[in-house]
Amino acid sequence: MDLGFRGEVTDFYHRYRRGYPPAVVDTLVNAFSLDHDDVVLDVGCGTGQLTLPLSKHVGVAIGLDPEADMLTRARAAANEDGARNVTWSLGSDEDLTTLHSLLAPRGFAGITIAQAAHWMDHDALFRSCVPTLRPGGGLAVVTNGKPLWQHDTAWSRALYDVLSTWLGTPPRATCGTDDDSQARYRESLGSAGFTVRTAHIEYSDELTLEHVIGSVYSAFGANSLPAPDRRPVFEEMVRTALEPHRPFNEPVRVGLVIGTR
Ligand SMILES: C[S@@+](CC[C@H](N)C(=O)[O-])C[C@H]1O[C@@H](n2cnc3c(N)ncnc32)[C@H](O)[C@@H]1O
Repeated sequence: MDLGFRGEVTDFYHRYRRGYPPAVVDTLVNAFSLDHDDVVLDVGCGTGQLTLPLSKHVGVAIGLDPEADMLTRARAAANEDGARNVTWSLGSDEDLTTLHSLLAPRGFAGITIAQAAHWMDHDALFRSCVPTLRPGGGLAVVTNGKPLWQHDTAWSRALYDVLSTWLGTPPRATCGTDDDSQARYRESLGSAGFTVRTAHIEYSDELTLEHVIGSVYSAFGANSLPAPDRRPVFEEMVRTALEPHRPFNEPVRVGLVIGTR
């Protein structure tokens, strides 16, 4: 599987994508009554943005992802963090049932899908999760705020225009953050037999221009990332368009669609 999360994109992702504030982790810990006997599985773990903070509250955390470079970076981050109770598995959501038989016969306490459900057949995935969860456990679809170029601010609109010009088409992907996708996750979890609720954690953060550009690069696939010799042109376009609109305040709204058994 080559989804484009490899090479330099992995580094941009790890360096410039947001992690999750403690309130998000606390919400999950409370929702699934997590404790240090529990095993949690983070599907589409990337470089461990949610896996690592969650691991502090459980016995074992497993990060599952089909992109080897993301897992290599996640493992390095775990080492830097001193996290000893995390393991990383190369595979996709389709490996969940096998992983469950192998690693957590008494059931996962929590399954998280953070900023990744839009890559998956979530109807099939949610159904397949049900028999793998311990009683009181559950599944959470987490979204980490809208893409940077979809906010209702002048700098975000300027970024949208730059990307539209660069790509030759407007960047439309919402990555599961839009209302329709959120409604689909809720309905799908309900149909799979979960009790569903939602939570939101909101905060605001000021970005540097370097962070804006790095975050945009992290959203390009490895095949569409501007080549190093074209990056100065791209970065100058972004700088010229955004500079009049400082500060670059980003309203971040983390969404959690939580299903419990
Ligand atoms: C946008 S990143 C999210 C990373 C991290 N969870 C976060 O919250 O920032 C999406 C991740 O999902 C992974 N992914 C895509 N399709 C997948 C699938 N079918 N099963 C598991 N992971 C998948 C990608 O390789 C990528 O690392």
